[in-house]
Amino acid sequence: MQYYSSTKIHNIKKISKYKKKNIKVYGWIKSKRNTKKGILFLDINDGFSTKPIQIIIKKKIILKNKIKIQNLNNGCSLIILGKIKKNINNNYNEIHAKKIKIIGKIKNKKEYPISPKYHTTKYLRKISHLRSRTNLISSISRIRNTLIYYLHNFFKKKNFFWIPTPIITSLDTEGNSEMFQIYQKKKNFFNKKSYLTVSGQLNLETYACSLSKVYNLGPVFRAENSNTRKHLAEFWMLEVEIILTNIKKIIKFIKNMLSFCIKKIIKYNYDDLNFLIKYNNYDHTQLLKEIIEKKIITINYNDVIKILKNKEKKNKEKIIWGIDISTKHEKYLTKKHFNSSIIIINHPKKIKPFYMKTNKDNITVSSLDLILKNIGETIGGSEREYKLTKLDENMKEKKINKKKYWWYRDLRKYGTIPHSGFGLGLERLLMYITNIKNIKDIIPYPRYPNYLNF
Ligand code: 4AD
Ligand code: MG
Repeated sequence: MQYYSSTKIHNIKKISKYKKKNIKVYGWIKSKRNTKKGILFLDINDGFSTKPIQIIIKKKIILKNKIKIQNLNNGCSLIILGKIKKNINNNYNEIHAKKIKIIGKIKNKKEYPISPKYHTTKYLRKISHLRSRTNLISSISRIRNTLIYYLHNFFKKKNFFWIPTPIITSLDTEGNSEMFQIYQKKKNFFNKKSYLTVSGQLNLETYACSLSKVYNLGPVFRAENSNTRKHLAEFWMLEVEIILTNIKKIIKFIKNMLSFCIKKIIKYNYDDLNFLIKYNNYDHTQLLKEIIEKKIITINYNDVIKILKNKEKKNKEKIIWGIDISTKHEKYLTKKHFNSSIIIINHPKKIKPFYMKTNKDNITVSSLDLILKNIGETIGGSEREYKLTKLDENMKEKKINKKKYWWYRDLRKYGTIPHSGFGLGLERLLMYITNIKNIKDIIPYPRYPNYLNF
């Protein structure tokens, strides 16, 4: 039997042309059952959906194909030729096998790390090279794929240009980041210190100031020593820069973008979401609906401080104007106080990077942070300081060597223009969409402190 031109399992259920016909499918065995009469039932899956197809193999077929039943184990790969038939529920969800060929068997089934039973995510992380064989990780992967596809689609529709900003850099975008330094065997390769970038924003801004509407989507790296459920050392960021816009318009843009993508995920990953609801034993559809209906509250940093101060009286926690909003605060605001995701705007200048535009009060910047319920900060953005004198003032205040940022300053020298932008942590958004609690289960190969396997 040839391997090629097989039918994908999820198509069989959709397309009537396969009915009662001989078709060829392949996949990995998910479970196996025997009847007393010697009929074998196999559930096999080829990775395109959570739902396997049932293969029914009569005893005479087993004998004819010289199949050793002990070789048909969970995880082994095989190819089957057979007829698609209705099951007792009147669905075309069974293949009565005529020919079977084992492609890859598992010699010692006790050794195979994935069994049909439940595995903890902690255990699965230790076998990241095999964990995509589970419905949990494959569902997340398919949802991630839809998200990325429809982000590109959204930007294409809105006439944006995709700019691949560099990964190797000599500059710190944020001005105070922990960066991974690149070891250069030939010491003078770049003739300067080089790092993995924490954000492509500054490079993206240069293209915004010529192409008007741009975005990037790629991996970024942070060497901060945070081993939490929402931090990775390598993660993906979507960044957007738009000229002649402001925070208000950016907020509207973000809401439209998130709503568009989540609608597509509900449409194209319905089965995956349903699987996750069962897996989590919690129906988080409401969370998705809130984003689709754009129910995100915008609130000023000043007002957030007032709310936290009120709570402080009960908790004896020190809340003063100027503090950063901690994970604990984010949780209180989104889960208790507002019971909604929120966008905090106009943060104190001293806790935000040098590139953010200073407000008229001279102590806050025109910033935004999207805090998603159950997740925390997922988007950070701002209006950009487009006046050179003001940008230089900011750099001086933050003790940043402005010579190093000469090309970024050039944008303000040569035909400067107001612009704004934001960065979205892709895995954090996916945590929200999938309702999976640890970011380490969202990215195929997580990297975090003391962990660089695979
Ligand atoms: O808020 P951040 O640091 O913003 C920037 O880097 C800007 N330059 C973006 C821009 O305006 N173009 O990071 C943006 C987002 C955060 O809101 C968060 O979702 C995510 O990136 N993020 C992380 N995700 C996973 N692991 C980490 N260690 C993360 N650090 C930030
Ligand atoms: Mg931030």
